[in-house]
Amino acid sequence: PAPTPGFPLPTPHTQTAHDPASDFTSKWTRADAKQIMAQSDSKVQPGQNSMSPEVTMPEIPEDFPAMNDDVWVWDTWSLTDENANQISYKGYDVIFSLVADRHAGYGFDQRHWNARIGYFFRKTNADPAKDKWNYGGHLFLDNTSIGNTEWSGSTRLMKGNQVNVFYTATTFYDVKERNAGGGGIAPDAVIAKALGNIHADKNGVTFDGFQHTKLLEPDGKLYQNKAQNPGFAFRDPYTFADPAHPGKTYMVFEGNTGGKRGDYRCKNEDLGYAKGDPNAENLDEVNSKGAYYQTANVGLAVADNKDLTKWHFLPPILSANCVNDQTERPQIFIQNENGKNKYYLFTISHQFTYAAGMRGPDGVYGFVGDGVRSDYQPMNNSGLALGSPTDLNLPSESPEAPTPNQNGRQFQAYSHYVQPGGLVQSFIDNVNGVRGGSLSPTVKINFRDGVSKVDRSFGQNGLGPFGYLPTNVHVGGNGLY
Ligand code: FRU
Repeated sequence: PAPTPGFPLPTPHTQTAHDPASDFTSKWTRADAKQIMAQSDSKVQPGQNSMSPEVTMPEIPEDFPAMNDDVWVWDTWSLTDENANQISYKGYDVIFSLVADRHAGYGFDQRHWNARIGYFFRKTNADPAKDKWNYGGHLFLDNTSIGNTEWSGSTRLMKGNQVNVFYTATTFYDVKERNAGGGGIAPDAVIAKALGNIHADKNGVTFDGFQHTKLLEPDGKLYQNKAQNPGFAFRDPYTFADPAHPGKTYMVFEGNTGGKRGDYRCKNEDLGYAKGDPNAENLDEVNSKGAYYQTANVGLAVADNKDLTKWHFLPPILSANCVNDQTERPQIFIQNENGKNKYYLFTISHQFTYAAGMRGPDGVYGFVGDGVRSDYQPMNNSGLALGSPTDLNLPSESPEAPTPNQNGRQFQAYSHYVQPGGLVQSFIDNVNGVRGGSLSPTVKINFRDGVSKVDRSFGQNGLGPFGYLPTNVHVGGNGLY
């Protein structure tokens, strides 16, 4: 596309694959992320959506249904295999969600400090528009997981009826932190897994026998730890096999660049401007604005044994130094294009975690390359694949305290997760002041060659059924009991 007057050109990225064990880290640069504003309309009426309809999530109605009256539901994932297929087990679709008690006296914004992994199931042949997800309760027995709070991860069906639940074990140390949110002693976070069994019969789905193993703690070198930054991010494991490296199991996760918070200084590679670009920023100015406080990365680890109980870190596959502080819930989605496997890295991010001088919406961001580790090309040149309707001309806000001047749907959804067929599920956060805690209508994006477009012919004006997480691989029979 032609450059937008007044904006820099994006950084060229070759998409070339590197050995997953090598130390090449792709950069989502300021020049790349500046394309979000280059593609945004600077002249909309204040509070409208300034983003292109191709990357804007269709509007969620205010009168959305609650998926469950007893628990708030947010980050959600399906039962999968190592190739990201969504598995139906003995005739049931099974999903896992972070849940928190709606009646315990704390608010929706305090959910993170009280999070547990819950699960839901419904018959694979159910009508997604009518049949509710049945709530199965907490996945793990009380006080059995590593840590006192369970944050996001992924669940894989292994041999027979065994499941491996990869999750973030977050530990909070004081009640103030847990129930008021914020302040208090910084939490610990480790990546853990639990191996257990899934059972299904005519009454539904149950789990038992979970054995928990701690897998990874941040090393402070490649991945920032708590001593270096009380607000560090180390979470959201997602494991997968790479057809280019058979026999190995990899994990992507959310991290931050190792080192003490505030010590990092932005480099020319983080800015990514071409020499002589008249719209380039000056490195010293970017640093003097404090953009170096934002140091998100997408981490990579590889399993050392078949039981997936031992892992070691590899260098991050993507860094967003001086662009954004959080690249959450990363996933690898492999799509065949013209006879070649293209690797899409999807990750969610917020408006309030952007670095000084940068602006973008809450939503899902994507990057495409020829391998798990490659010189990733940001989708749509900017990285933005799908965002909540936002007027990006106005300053960034947070879902706890949006102002009435902004688009009432700027925080309508978060934690977008791209499923087979380009179906994107997410949870509802704040629709015109109505707080969510339930799954959004699933939407569809069509993407190829690193370019994506919302499919507005899907469902009703682009909105599919609420919480539509269909399965594409069936295991263990058809569920006729
Ligand atoms: C995304 C997220 C995840 C984390 C969870 C905690 O919504 O921030 O990164 O695991 O929520 O609630």
